[in-house]
Amino acid sequence: MQYLAAIIAFICWQGCLGLNLRPYNVTALSMFVNNDLNHDGYFTLDEVHLTFALCDSNHDGRVSRHEYMSYVDLHTPTLHDLSHALYDDYDVDHDNHLDEHDFQNFFNLMDTDKDHRVSALEWEQYWVNQFIKYEHLHLHGHGGR
Ligand SMILES: *[C@@H]1O[C@H](CO)[C@@H](O)[C@H](O)[C@H]1NC(C)=O
Repeated sequence: MQYLAAIIAFICWQGCLGLNLRPYNVTALSMFVNNDLNHDGYFTLDEVHLTFALCDSNHDGRVSRHEYMSYVDLHTPTLHDLSHALYDDYDVDHDNHLDEHDFQNFFNLMDTDKDHRVSALEWEQYWVNQFIKYEHLHLHGHGGR
């Protein structure tokens, strides 16, 4: 479902290596700026695909859990636990592969007004909720409690 979220998220997190993602709205906005690749003020399905391709190390058009976690562990090892949780969210059918349908589902979750593009506000609302949902993972490093 929201699988690309993680991929997208850790692009920011390469630059935000500490686990402190607060204030969430500011973190979300900086992620938006990084992922709006053509800087037109909207995040689109094309940009999902471009981001997604970064993790697809064997270029088969799908992102396996192994590919995904390898990418995370290489770039942001501190986000290992959070990234596992996000992958479970994205992989709606739990087949350990993120495919085109997962892609679309994820995009649709953020595109709340269904105009086929995600504004900064839609992005922020989605990501602030994700950060809150997984607070126990990223605030305490190792899943804890
Ligand atoms: C983030 O939220 C705080 C508290 O609601 C607000 O004061 C601040 O202006 C917001 N920042 C951005 C970039 O939206």
